[in-house]
Amino acid sequence: MLVTNKELLVNAQRGAYAVGAFNIQNLESLRAVVEAAVEELSPVIIAITPSAIKYAGLEYLATLVKKAADLSPIPMSLHLDHGTDIETIIKCIDAGFTSVMIDGSHLPFKENVCLTRRVVELAHPRGVSVEGELGRLAGIEEKAIVEREAILTDPEEASEFVKLTGVDALAISIGTSHGAYKFKGEPQLDFERLRLIREKVNVPLVLHGASSVPQWIIEKATKYGAKLEGAKGIPEEHIRLAISMGITKINIDTDLRLAFTAAIREVLMTSPEEFDPRKILGPAVKAMKDVVKEKIRLFGSYGKGGL
Ligand code: G3H
Ligand code: 13P
Ligand code: ZN
Repeated sequence: MLVTNKELLVNAQRGAYAVGAFNIQNLESLRAVVEAAVEELSPVIIAITPSAIKYAGLEYLATLVKKAADLSPIPMSLHLDHGTDIETIIKCIDAGFTSVMIDGSHLPFKENVCLTRRVVELAHPRGVSVEGELGRLAGIEEKAIVEREAILTDPEEASEFVKLTGVDALAISIGTSHGAYKFKGEPQLDFERLRLIREKVNVPLVLHGASSVPQWIIEKATKYGAKLEGAKGIPEEHIRLAISMGITKINIDTDLRLAFTAAIREVLMTSPEEFDPRKILGPAVKAMKDVVKEKIRLFGSYGKGGL
């Protein structure tokens, strides 16, 4: 059944667990996420970025997700991830998205507030929930302290941002970044900052860039020819700690991409005579599904899909 992020996240906040937002861009990734969530009886957020829309088409993707939601017993939302403009937001709401993110994190504070507020005014009357972002996701390791401060979310500003915009959830920056190369040295997240933000902000908090980049997947992909030297993600114990400190939505894309790639590489290398797409993509769906199931267990949302 299709619900909003707000419904899913308010329950998660009460239950002290997190809901996974998994990026999909085709039938294979959608099947992996939905089948895993149904088998684990977990609520789930189906996340679609503007570039996934460009790749597969808004109507195709929205229709697939809505059908999957109709056929599934668990609650799931159809969420625009990293929306950057009003036009895309309106198109997604028209297509049946139940939740949108407006990412104004690259803008100065006041402009981010104005843009986000406009999206809230458009979305809320149509029953759609809104996620805003404050603080930028970027590699912070080599940056000077002053620059790091400018990138990471300021707790006072976060509180003001939520009051001024009326967002239902807030994505924050505490040192994570998108992609497979998150840290050169030891993984570092600013948990003290998360504590201060949680103290001042009561809407659900969102962690982007949360993939763990499992080394066994990197090794498998590398064995079959991938070049992924230096790939490193967020340790699972950091994810557990972040959830215990109030993170209630966790975004995962990279780990699914890595699982997909490793599985496809394995089939192509070990069965060079194979050319049936179903025989090549089937193991990739299974590999992504296994990753989603592991995340659901890690996030504590297993069994919480009864609503
Ligand atoms: O932030 C989300 C992604 O991991 C980047 O996705 O390549 O579909 O824009 P994209
Ligand atoms: P990862 O690149 O760590 O998977 O993050 C995904 C994300 O934040 C999508 O919005
Ligand atoms: Zn993101």
